[in-house]
Amino acid sequence: MRTDELKRLLSEMSLEEKIGQMIQIPGYFFEDGHLTGPALEMGLENDDLYLAGSLLSVIGAEKIVSLQKTFMEKQPHHIPMLFMADIINGYRTVYPIPLAQGCSFDPNLAERCASVAARESTASGLHVTFSPMADLVRDARWGRVMESTGEDAYLNGEMTAAMVRGYQGSDLAEKGRIASCLKHFAGYGAPDGGRDYNTVELSPRTLLDDYLPAYQRAVEAGTAMVMTSFNTLDRIPSSANKWLLQTILREQMGFEGVIISDWGALFELLNHGIAADLEEAARLSIQAGVDIDMSSPVYPKALKKLVDAGIVPVELIDLAAWRILELKNKLGLFENPCKDASAEAEQKVLLCPEHRQIAQEAAEKSFVLLKNDGDTLPLDLHASVACIGPYWDTNKLKGAWSIFAEDEDCATLKEVFEKLPFPSIQFAEGCAIADPGTFIVAFRETKEIDFPDPEKALAEAVKLARSADQVALALGEHRETTGEGASHGNLTLPECQLRLLKEVAAVNPNVTVVFFTGRPLDIRAVQQYAKAILVAWMPGTEGAKALARVLTGEVAPSGRLSMAFPYCVGQVPIHYNQMRTGRPFHGDYRKERFFSKYLDIPNEPLYPFGYGLTYTSFAYSPVTLDQTALRAGETLHASVRVTNTGKRAGTETVQLYIRDVAGSVTRPLRELKGFRKVALEPGASQEITFEITEDMLRFHDIHMNFTSEPGAFEVYIGPDSTTENKGTFTLQ
Ligand code: BGC
Ligand code: BGC
Repeated sequence: MRTDELKRLLSEMSLEEKIGQMIQIPGYFFEDGHLTGPALEMGLENDDLYLAGSLLSVIGAEKIVSLQKTFMEKQPHHIPMLFMADIINGYRTVYPIPLAQGCSFDPNLAERCASVAARESTASGLHVTFSPMADLVRDARWGRVMESTGEDAYLNGEMTAAMVRGYQGSDLAEKGRIASCLKHFAGYGAPDGGRDYNTVELSPRTLLDDYLPAYQRAVEAGTAMVMTSFNTLDRIPSSANKWLLQTILREQMGFEGVIISDWGALFELLNHGIAADLEEAARLSIQAGVDIDMSSPVYPKALKKLVDAGIVPVELIDLAAWRILELKNKLGLFENPCKDASAEAEQKVLLCPEHRQIAQEAAEKSFVLLKNDGDTLPLDLHASVACIGPYWDTNKLKGAWSIFAEDEDCATLKEVFEKLPFPSIQFAEGCAIADPGTFIVAFRETKEIDFPDPEKALAEAVKLARSADQVALALGEHRETTGEGASHGNLTLPECQLRLLKEVAAVNPNVTVVFFTGRPLDIRAVQQYAKAILVAWMPGTEGAKALARVLTGEVAPSGRLSMAFPYCVGQVPIHYNQMRTGRPFHGDYRKERFFSKYLDIPNEPLYPFGYGLTYTSFAYSPVTLDQTALRAGETLHASVRVTNTGKRAGTETVQLYIRDVAGSVTRPLRELKGFRKVALEPGASQEITFEITEDMLRFHDIHMNFTSEPGAFEVYIGPDSTTENKGTFTLQ
């Protein structure tokens, strides 16, 4: 539709219709065109329902085509609905959770994965996905770390921008493209104590320098929508935060798309205690700039009253409705209301071989090898193996957000490994996936873990381990113990799994632990008893095949931690780019005092950001710089030569960190500013050069100006965030 036609449409719409565009209702509110209990509880009536501008969590081409028809017939101007859903790490073909994708350090891969999700979900009728999540995460207790690409602003920015490109392409109306909704704006990744939905306390500088850049990158990449977060920032809930939504998001970041609240967040303004009633919540939200109310009675019940009373100017409603109409127009819905929805296309693209192949590649590139003493891995295909643990015989490998995928589409590890040519391969469950008595509360399964006869299962496992040459233990968290509303006070594996590990290692020390998790864990016990450790995260539909290839050496692991594994829960929040303190500490923590340290645990995480091994080794030359001074407008080149010093081919992720030696405010210990993946044959070497420019050195200075400051800088290039391989230069 032409802009003038769209403007005319807006001018012809009634106030009720315009407000309707600003209301999103969940699919389960109605059945066969009739409202169900929850909608009635919200005070919605049939007429309101048919004026709603968007629907949440309805999927399937046939269903969406029929709903679109019904809604358009009833809508006075026959305006099409937007269909939105959470397509987080795949729709039917599921690739690894975002935290695992972060470990690939491969934005191009994330882009391809997102385009798979877009192709599949648009065939099923969807128009908008509530992804990517750009929330920076430093606290593994928070269950939603699995939805982030990790603890680093630069890596998150690279990954989330790539995801936006993968979803949207260059034209939303194009077949197979979906609008992305960036979330959760802002700071949702830093809840106090790691407890979901809790208060966020961030200094303005930490917010601007560390938390906002990844959102900004996704905005620059053109995300069509942004979702507000549940949390408060400086005691103001995001959905009522005019400074955040107007000054920062719209004015400074230049976002012109649609802002939607998170689920029920406008109603939660009452719980937050900043709105006394629905009217006040509506006034605060519309004034702050929320265009769509997701699943709450606030806009449906209160917005019209406020306009009628002259409290909210109708211009604000017009502006919000206009943005929503514009998005519908960009998606081409006025010409093509069902966009790509097609039962035939669903048949063709869902779980097609090409999509499964990308999911497998993504899984292979996201596994992180943390330990491999004595070349325990790859597994020896000429020796017998005991496959023990609750993760061998399960197809639940997809992560908590894969709500539209089927477990049946996912092979189990057992099914894949049985076909491998080991002289003998035997399987035992060993113990439960969670400690018996644990309650699993989730979208699709709510149950208490019940595990009959744990002693017998343990004894069988120990017997198998004793008679095998090598043991592969598949352990991990239940997939529903990470994700939304799944914060943890403890970060260890279940007791029953730790016991299994100890007893197995006591009879056969040749133990590899593969573990499935949505968050970094305290794995000191695994570190102690296992010779090799591979983090599999939640690897998705092709996880089992990918693991078989990596564990048997057909493919070498190449992932790097996108988030540190803490030594224990007492260290979190932890991140490599902490601020400097007046009492830095290196040394034996047990023997010193009066430094910034603990008396009972080290400062360092068990495994730092950027860390990961492979089946070969690499050597780095010292860092060389082509200049010792840098001026604005110039480019400095920092190089290293990387050599594969082992006996197998492998991929190294070369990482560039910069430290600002002195600033007008305290500066981080170091910050990631670039990375490069390089595949090298044994003995081969390659020179890697990074370009450094003045704009990479900017931060919010003492006056809150975003600028760089002259002085000394250190350049670190190495295999992870602890590298000491460095050069220095001066910014003039
Ligand atoms: C989550 C969002 C999600 C929304 C819609 C909320 O509870 O915080 O991430 O997109 O629900 O399902
Ligand atoms: C302590 C102060 C103390 C000062 C002089 C410092 O280390 O932090 O509390 O007054 O020493 O003894």
